[in-house]
Amino acid sequence: MQHDALTVRKRDSYQIFNDIAPTYDFLNRILSFGIDRSWRKKLVKRTSSTPISALDLATGTGDLAIALAKQRPLAKITGLDLSEGMIKIGQAKVQAQGLTKQITLSLGDGVNLGVTDHSVDLITIGFGIRNFSNPLESLKQCERALIPGGKILILEFSWPRNPAVRLMYNFYFRYLLPWLGNLVSGHKDAYTYLNKTVEDFPYGESFLAMMQTAGLQNTSATPLTFGIATLYEGSAKHE
Ligand SMILES: C[S@@+](CC[C@H](N)C(=O)[O-])C[C@H]1O[C@@H](n2cnc3c(N)ncnc32)[C@H](O)[C@@H]1O
Repeated sequence: MQHDALTVRKRDSYQIFNDIAPTYDFLNRILSFGIDRSWRKKLVKRTSSTPISALDLATGTGDLAIALAKQRPLAKITGLDLSEGMIKIGQAKVQAQGLTKQITLSLGDGVNLGVTDHSVDLITIGFGIRNFSNPLESLKQCERALIPGGKILILEFSWPRNPAVRLMYNFYFRYLLPWLGNLVSGHKDAYTYLNKTVEDFPYGESFLAMMQTAGLQNTSATPLTFGIATLYEGSAKHE
C-alpha cells in the first residue's frame, strides 16, 4: 500500500475497529501469546500511585484503562476512542469489573483533543498512535493538555534489532499473523492493514525525535520482549 493511501485509510481506521471489535480482545490474547497484558502492566508500573487524572487515547476495549484502574485505585481515567463498537465492549467490561466510578469511556479523537490546556496529569496511548492520521499533531495536543511536568506513556509495536529474532518475527508478523487475524475476525484485510501500519511507523530514536518535535521532554524508549514492542515515556514542559 502506498504511504498516502495508508494515511487516508488511517483517517477511517476506526471503521475497521468497529468491524473487528467482537473478536479484538480474543485475537489480542492469541496473536500476542498473552504477552500484551505484561506490556500494559509494565506501563502501569511507570505511573504514580497518588490521585491523578488520566486520559487514555485510542482506548479501544479499555484494556489499558482497566489495567491502570486496578493498580492505581486513586486514578480517575477517561478513555477516548473513535470506534463506537470498541467503546461499547469496553464499557461492558468496565461495568462488569465494578470500575465505573474510576473509568469513563467515550467517543473522542486522539488527534483533535477537546481537552482544556494543562488539565491532565497523565496521558497513555496503547497501540493506538500508529493508527492516527497525524501522530505529531496528537503528541503536540498531548503536550498542551498535560499539566507542566505531566507524563505521557505510549506503547507501540516496533522491530527487534537482533537479526535472528527479526527474521523469525518477520515471518510471523508478515504472514502468519495477518492470515490468522483476517480468518478469525472474518474481515477481508483488517490484520493485513494493521501489519502495514506497524511497518510504516517510526520506532526507537525516530519516534523519540517525533516526541521531542512535539515539545515533550525527558523522553526515553524501553524495548520490550526483544523489541517487538517499545514503551515510550516523556513529560510536558515545566513552566
Ligand atoms: C490497536 S487498537 C488499541 C486499543 C487499546 N488501546 C489496546 O491497547 O488494546 C487501536 C485503537 O485506535 C483507535 N483509533 C484510531 N484512530 C483514532 C483516533 N484518531 N482517535 C482515537 N482513537 C482512534 C481505533 O478505533 C482502535 O480502537
